[in-house]
Amino acid sequence: MDLYEYQARDLFAAHGVPVLDAIVADTPEQAAAAASKLNSPVVVVKAQVKAGGRGKAGGVKLAKSPEEAAERAKDILALTIKDLPVRRVMVTQGASIAEEYYFSVLLDRANRTYLAMASREGGMEIEELAHQRPEALARIPVDAITGIDAAKAQEIVDAAGFAEEVKPQIIEVIQKLWTVFQEEDATLVEVNPLIKSGDGKIIALDGKVTLDENAGFRHSLHESLADQDAADPLEAKAKAKNLNYVKLDGNVGIIGNGAGLVMSTLDVVAYAGEKFGGSKPANFLDIGGGASAEVMANGLEIILSDPQVKSVFVNVFGGITACDAVANGIVQAFQLLESRGEAVTRPLVVRLDGNNAELGRQILTEAKLAGLEQVDTMDGAASRAAELAAKGA
Ligand SMILES: Nc1ncnc2c1ncn2[C@@H]1O[C@H](COP(=O)(O)OP(=O)(O)OP(=O)(O)O)[C@@H](O)[C@H]1O
Ligand SMILES: [Mg+2]
Repeated sequence: MDLYEYQARDLFAAHGVPVLDAIVADTPEQAAAAASKLNSPVVVVKAQVKAGGRGKAGGVKLAKSPEEAAERAKDILALTIKDLPVRRVMVTQGASIAEEYYFSVLLDRANRTYLAMASREGGMEIEELAHQRPEALARIPVDAITGIDAAKAQEIVDAAGFAEEVKPQIIEVIQKLWTVFQEEDATLVEVNPLIKSGDGKIIALDGKVTLDENAGFRHSLHESLADQDAADPLEAKAKAKNLNYVKLDGNVGIIGNGAGLVMSTLDVVAYAGEKFGGSKPANFLDIGGGASAEVMANGLEIILSDPQVKSVFVNVFGGITACDAVANGIVQAFQLLESRGEAVTRPLVVRLDGNNAELGRQILTEAKLAGLEQVDTMDGAASRAAELAAKGA
C-alpha cells in the first residue's frame, strides 16, 4: 500500500524524523485556514496524489498569504496528475533550502536484502541521475538483522560523499528513517528531497512510503491509511468477499482456477480478441482451488456488476477439485444469483478440462443453463467469448 505524502509525513513525525508543520485541506477555504494557522511568511501548497513528479506537473506551489494559498489550492485541486485527480492538498511551511539530498531504503528483491540509496544531488528526477551518473547515487546493502545502525549510517553518508558538517545530522536522521521502515513494516521509505535548510538543519521535505500489506495484521492503524476513495469499487467489493480480483479495461469477464491459468487466459483472450474488433479481458479473477458454488456465484456477481462486461469466460482445469464439482458449482451459482435477483444475463463460455472433465461437461449440458455454451479447448473458448463480447457491445 502506497501512502500519500501527508501520511508519510505523519509517520516520519511519529518516529522523530524532522519534518515541517503541515495541514491537509480538501477545499481552497480549508487551505486558507491552514495557511493562517501555520503562521509562516511563505507556505507551500502540495497536491496529494500517489505519483511522482508532482512539482513538474504544477502540483507544488508557493503562497505568501492565506488568500494566495486558497488560489493555489484552487488551481491544484483542479489538476489531474498522471491520470490521478487531485482531491486533497497539503499546506506546509515554506523552507529555505540550502541543499537538496536524496535518501531511500527499500526491499531489494533481486538481491534478497534491503538497500539504502543516498545522494548529495536530490530534488531532481532521481531516476535520471541514477541512469546518467550512477556513481552519484550510493547504493549500500542493509542487513535485515542489524539494519541501519550508527556504523551502517556512517558507511552510507561516506559512500554518498556528504559534507563533513552535515554528516552527524544525516546519520541521526537516516537511522530514524530506518526505524520507520522497520517498525512500520515498509518496503519503501524514500525522501526526495532531504534538505539542508538555510539555518543548517536536515529536514525531510517530501516522503514516499510503501507499507507491506502482508504485515497489516501487526498494525491496527494501517487499515485507516487505506485509500477508500481511490480504490476501485468492484475491487473493494471483491476484497470483502475474499476474492482475488483485479479490474481491467476490457469486455470479456474472466474466471479461472489458479493464478497461472488465469494469467494465460488473459493472454489468450487478448490474442483472440484481435480478430473481433479488439475484445479484451475485463478482469483477473482467480477463484482458487476450492471453487464452491458460493465462490463461483460471488465471482460471477462481481464480474457481471461491471457494465463493460459483455461475455464471461470460465476457464477451469480440474485438479483436486474435479470438473464435476466445478460444474455443480456453476449450476448452483446460477440458482443462487437468481435468488439474489442478479440472474446471469450475459453469455457465458465454459471450458472444462482435466480431472473428470467429461462428467463436468455432461452436468452442464443437462442443466441447460440459459446463455451458457461449452467449448472444449482454451483457444476455442477464448475465441468464442471474444466473439460474443464483440457482438454484445
Ligand atoms: N515546504 C517546502 N518549502 C520549500 N520548497 C519546497 C517545499 N516542498 C517542496 N519544495 C520544493 O519543491 C520541489 C518538489 O517538491 P516534492 O519533492 O515534494 O514534490 P515532487 O515534485 O512530487 O517530487 P517527487 O517526484 O519526489 O514526488 C522540492 O524539490 C523543493 O525544491
Ligand atoms: Mg519529491
